[in-house]
Amino acid sequence: MSSPASSTTPAADKAEHYDDARRRIGALLDGPTDWMSAMATVACELHHSFDHYDWTGFYRAVSDEELLVGPYQGPHGCLHIDFDRGVCGAAARTRETQLWPDVSEAPDHIACQSSTRSEVVVPVLTPSDDLLAVLDVDSDTLGAFDTTDREHLEALCRDLGEQFADTALR
Ligand code: SME
Repeated sequence: MSSPASSTTPAADKAEHYDDARRRIGALLDGPTDWMSAMATVACELHHSFDHYDWTGFYRAVSDEELLVGPYQGPHGCLHIDFDRGVCGAAARTRETQLWPDVSEAPDHIACQSSTRSEVVVPVLTPSDDLLAVLDVDSDTLGAFDTTDREHLEALCRDLGEQFADTALR
């Protein structure tokens, strides 16, 4: 594995890092696994591939209105988030990626860590549109995430939604 990419890595190199990370994740998940093991593996692989990732993990949709923290890397996260709260709640509610280069501009951002400056949250949806979880990545760097991060994380979450569509465990 090459050294981690950062928020200042040129877009083409960053895209290559995402391709590599997604290849590794694909290989790791190509065997006996389940949704929980997959989330743990994805959080670990992403977190250690990018220097601008300071909190990397999943919030699981445990009902139509509540998220509970799942596997993550980084300092401790909030345990519970309602769909009507925060950036993660907005991603769960709207089923759209939330990309905030400056979280101080995000209405209702929940500061689990006061050091967080930017954030991207991507819903994990099955092909039949069931929400399994949201993937949340926080950075202590302002403007750490851009369309390269967004596109690759969305593609990764699409793959996860397809692979784990039949998971009994949300
Ligand atoms: N910032 C998120 C909360 C989750 S943590 O930062 C780990 C939000 O506003 O939903």
